[in-house]
Amino acid sequence: MQQKPEHILGQGGELNDAVWLDVLEAVDKTYADLVEYQEKLETRNNELQALRRFLGSILASISDYLVVVERDGQISNASASFCKAVGLERALLDGHGVAEFFDGAERDKLMSAMRDAIQRREEATVEALLTTPAGRDPVEFRIAPRLDRRRKGIGAVLTGRPLGELRRAYSELEESHHQLKETQSQLVRNEKLASLGRLLAGVAHELNNPISFVYANTHSLEKYASRFETYFERVQAGASRDELIALRAELKLDRAVTNLRDAVQGARDGAERVRDIVEDLRRLSAEGSGEMLSFDLVECARVAANWVRRGSKTALTLNFQGPAVVMAIGRPGHIQQVLMNLVQNAVDAMAGQDDPTITFQAGYEGDTAFLGLRDNGPGIPAEIAQTIFDPFFTTKDVGQGTGLGLSISHKIVEEHGGTLALCEQITDGACFRITLKRGDDG
Ligand SMILES: Nc1ncnc2c1ncn2[C@@H]1O[C@H](COP(=O)(O)OP(=O)(O)OP(=O)(O)O)[C@@H](O)[C@H]1O
Ligand SMILES: [Mg+2]
Repeated sequence: MQQKPEHILGQGGELNDAVWLDVLEAVDKTYADLVEYQEKLETRNNELQALRRFLGSILASISDYLVVVERDGQISNASASFCKAVGLERALLDGHGVAEFFDGAERDKLMSAMRDAIQRREEATVEALLTTPAGRDPVEFRIAPRLDRRRKGIGAVLTGRPLGELRRAYSELEESHHQLKETQSQLVRNEKLASLGRLLAGVAHELNNPISFVYANTHSLEKYASRFETYFERVQAGASRDELIALRAELKLDRAVTNLRDAVQGARDGAERVRDIVEDLRRLSAEGSGEMLSFDLVECARVAANWVRRGSKTALTLNFQGPAVVMAIGRPGHIQQVLMNLVQNAVDAMAGQDDPTITFQAGYEGDTAFLGLRDNGPGIPAEIAQTIFDPFFTTKDVGQGTGLGLSISHKIVEEHGGTLALCEQITDGACFRITLKRGDDG
């Protein structure tokens, strides 16, 4: 097509064939190019449409606010959630500036953050009160600058998360957490009351023996006293020697004197036993909150097991293996509570069994004192072994157990820096092992 006209035309002015061919070829090529461009354009167009639909669906479905603004703050697009919040249809937003939806200081805060973000080409976050038909709602906005090809700031994309809802949800969560804690401490209190109840059952049973002993002996003392009164009345009245000898034999005063001593001794024994029990209890409550001290774990286990045994009325056999004294460091009152829980669980598990037996094995391992407590009950099925220490896990009937015994015990031992766990490789019965820091064994 670059040829000059004289080359195109023949001598008679007719078109040269070769030139014709060139022209046709060029037209063909241009047409093919056009078709190709057209196809490309259509593909692009389709892609653009898909992108628009995609963006449209994002804008329609996103629950956070999304607002696209020009450099001057004019809104060029916004998500349906934002339109809904400000109470305007999407079409009506055109021509509005984003600043219109914020009042006074809130507006200044947002606009200056936006200007900064565009100018510095850096993202920013700002919290501002959005004016909505229902009032002013706190929103956290993330401002991302929009840049053109030359990295010049041409506007910004604001994504905002309404905080009001979040804060309400948070305070509701806080409230239910608070209630849960309340309920939990109530349950812990109940559990403590229940173990106190068990302890008291033991105490009552234990006191009953020596008290009835004291009572029976004082009854005898009264009887002897009235015989001696009779005798002394006769002495006072000036009875003859023979009469007194006869009366002495009749009243069996010689035997009464010996019995009198026994009765006094018996009453004293009983009273001393009562005193010891009270002393035990006093120690238990005093050491419950007390300091960490060195104490005998074996003795502690013995006392704990005896209390539970007295309260449970079963013929429980207790075996002790290992050294007679194993010293550990801790609060004996607390550890006794743990051991009572463990013994009580074992007793419950062995209920109705012929030969309920608990074997304690204590000893040292390096700097650690340990105590194993094993029963010959049904054992703990493998599928619940992981859960028995969870609060409220119980296999007992409603009203029989709260499921807090083991979790509280575990916590107590952990607070001591020790461990409470199921023993490994147990073939029959259940076995728990408690470890504490080794105490001073003098
Ligand atoms: N020696 C044991 N033998 C068999 N199962 C046991 C033994 N000790 C604990 N368990 C199981 O672990 C569960 C949880 O014990 P935990 O002491 O925490 O609660 P509980 O005894 O059920 O109730 P609570 O102690 O609050 O009265 C028990 O219900 C029982 O199923
Ligand atoms: Mg229990």
